[in-house]
Amino acid sequence: MRCECTLNDGTPVILRPLHCDDLPACAEFFACCSPRSLYSRYERLRVESPFELAKQLCFADQDTQLAMVGETEIDGLDRVIGIAQLLSDPRHEVAEFAVLVADAWQGLGLGSHFADFSLALAEAWGVERLVAEFLPDNVRLIRIVESRSFKLCRDGSGQVVSAQKLLGERGRDG
Ligand SMILES: CC(C)(COP(=O)(O)OP(=O)(O)OC[C@H]1O[C@@H](n2cnc3c(N)ncnc32)[C@H](O)[C@@H]1OP(=O)(O)O)[C@@H](O)C(=O)NCCC(=O)NCCS
Repeated sequence: MRCECTLNDGTPVILRPLHCDDLPACAEFFACCSPRSLYSRYERLRVESPFELAKQLCFADQDTQLAMVGETEIDGLDRVIGIAQLLSDPRHEVAEFAVLVADAWQGLGLGSHFADFSLALAEAWGVERLVAEFLPDNVRLIRIVESRSFKLCRDGSGQVVSAQKLLGERGRDG
């Protein structure tokens, strides 16, 4: 499954499943992400090198994790500019949607395209409930989930916001 989209500045991007041989491109991608963006994605400080982060992503268990890359051509070379993941339990009852767009490409619509692509993949994977967790100041992610009818829920501490959406039959039942 792959999808072509165009960012708000006209850049064409291909969204496609990640492969093991994307390792070098993914390491390059993580090197282009600021500590702040990495913190927003993982809700904690990551001390691993870009290569280590890429390795964890590229060699994850395929039964419980689907990773997608957003790729565009820069100076004649295909570059990864965003990564989204569906992290699921083995029975695919609940999956978490997590996404990271390289700083230089944020605010151009890529996160929104990933959300739509991930929703379609989650449906195809048979996921019953899709959840997302993010920091309360993450205005872009809040817009992404709200406009796709996720229900928002703040935890008691107010440190993390979660959002969830029912899919399949349960989603259609409202
Ligand atoms: C959060 C993130 C994935 C969003 O992706 P993005 O490509 O930057 O966001 P988009 O351009 O698709 O914008 C999403 C929404 O925010 C809006 N938006 C964009 N920039 C904005 C800004 N500066 N202020 C307010 N709203 C903004 C967009 O208009 C869009 O809303 P709309 O669909 O109603 O128009 C990306 O910024 C990112 O990777 N951040 C760091 C990692 C992270 O926070 N991951 C999420 C936790 S898993």
